[in-house]
Amino acid sequence: MIGIGLRTVHFTEILRDEPKIDFFEAISENFMDSGGRPSFILDKIAERYPIVLHGVSMNIGSADALDFDYLRKLKALAKRVNARWLSDHLCWTGVGGRNTHDLLPLPYNDETLNHVANRVLAVSDFLGAPLVLENASSYAEFTTSTMTEWDFLVRLVELTGCKLLLDVNNVYVSAYNHGYDPKTYIDAIPRGSVAQYHLAGHTNHGTHIVDTHIGPVIDEVWSLYAYTIDRLGDEPWTLLEWDAEIPDFATVHAEAMKASAVHA
Ligand SMILES: [Fe+2]
Repeated sequence: MIGIGLRTVHFTEILRDEPKIDFFEAISENFMDSGGRPSFILDKIAERYPIVLHGVSMNIGSADALDFDYLRKLKALAKRVNARWLSDHLCWTGVGGRNTHDLLPLPYNDETLNHVANRVLAVSDFLGAPLVLENASSYAEFTTSTMTEWDFLVRLVELTGCKLLLDVNNVYVSAYNHGYDPKTYIDAIPRGSVAQYHLAGHTNHGTHIVDTHIGPVIDEVWSLYAYTIDRLGDEPWTLLEWDAEIPDFATVHAEAMKASAVHA
């Protein structure tokens, strides 16, 4: 299954042309509070295509209490569009009730693991489905970490039964920024634990990479994706994200379909 991140600029083309694509991923927050046109269009698209929901503000890693008002709206949206699953990021996005609108990294140690695991279980219980969590790209690490990000994720899966959204570009970006081998990360992920893959472009500044979701996926990330498929299979759904200088739908579609060549 190969899908594309649903973006406002493509609404008209998608409804008019009904392009051949296996599914769309919608950003939950763009549709949770909005009635009107965006909701109407998402409902139309959901009649024709499978939908998965992807959130950016569950704040699963934060020390703040879980926001059940947010979760209630999320659950209602998932039901309305028959979402195959709900994903968010392994990160924190704010504290003290303030949203930074950034996906901030966590210290990877037992204290954080227990904290996040309890929250994942509470959220999955409330939503009535296993939460799917994505590895975010990162630019800083904590001196209080006692394990790697991949070990943290694997243990989180073991403790909670959550599924992973493995963003292959984010693995590449974080590996570049922190100086480890991205294949070591992929090698650690258990087969069967991944629900979905993400692919995206990024911006390389030499000293570091910024996860801008701009432009096509670079060749090295396609190679890492091929390596990932080889190890973890092509059953997880693959999704292309393109969020900056978004071209017409046909260009994004052509980029996404390169994944089928990798599968073949
Ligand atoms: Fe992603």
